[in-house]
Amino acid sequence: MYNGNENVMICDHPLIKHKISMLRNKNTGTNEFRAIVEEIAMLIGYEALRDLEIKEVDVETPLEVAKCPVIAGKKQAIVPILRAGLGLVGGLLKLMPTAKVGHIGLYRDEETFEPQEYYCKLPSAIDQRKIFVVDPMLATGGSAIAAIDFIKQRGGKDIIFLCVIAAPEGLDKLIAAHPDVKIFVGNLDRGLNEKAYIVPGLGDAGDRIFGTK
Ligand code: PRP
Ligand code: URA
Repeated sequence: MYNGNENVMICDHPLIKHKISMLRNKNTGTNEFRAIVEEIAMLIGYEALRDLEIKEVDVETPLEVAKCPVIAGKKQAIVPILRAGLGLVGGLLKLMPTAKVGHIGLYRDEETFEPQEYYCKLPSAIDQRKIFVVDPMLATGGSAIAAIDFIKQRGGKDIIFLCVIAAPEGLDKLIAAHPDVKIFVGNLDRGLNEKAYIVPGLGDAGDRIFGTK
């Protein structure tokens, strides 16, 4: 819950906090960084999947036939915002192995910080799927808002946004732009610096995941 908004969950699990602290450390190398991002995706994803629908089916145990719960309901789509969102996909696919994966390519203009689209490919029947839009960083909120705009324009309705670190500025903007979207945040940081980087943050998530720069 964030400012009384039940659509927003700021994770408080010590494992998530611990792993985010490891990401913040500038001495954490690419290999380890990537592995930790994947683990965090699983931990936040576990929380985000809490509301999955279940149905009862007959299962024959060694002793009797029992009514047992299994996952039911909508098919899922995972949509990373390129590039850095890719780092979260592997962890989420471990939780949802049958999910389809779409991609939205956005980069922030270095002067204006406005998101620029360069790619969008979504799974079929997107209107019938539970869609997990994922990006490690929610800074000004521009990229997340634009990505969710694109998905809604293409028919997406049931959307969850998942990030590792958010700035309050971006979180407030995302909530205002898309009040229907459920948001899961690993940690809410202090704010943005003059270059719209999250502080204390972890730097440029894409560069740290892919070892660029
Ligand atoms: C980063 C990050 C988000 C965006 C967040 O991507 O992964 O997509 O910035 O900033 P915002 O909330 O102010 O829009 P970046 O544009 O650096 O691209 P990259 O993932 O390709 O490195
Ligand atoms: N994008 C990043 O990768 N890091 C930030 O702190 C802000 C935007």
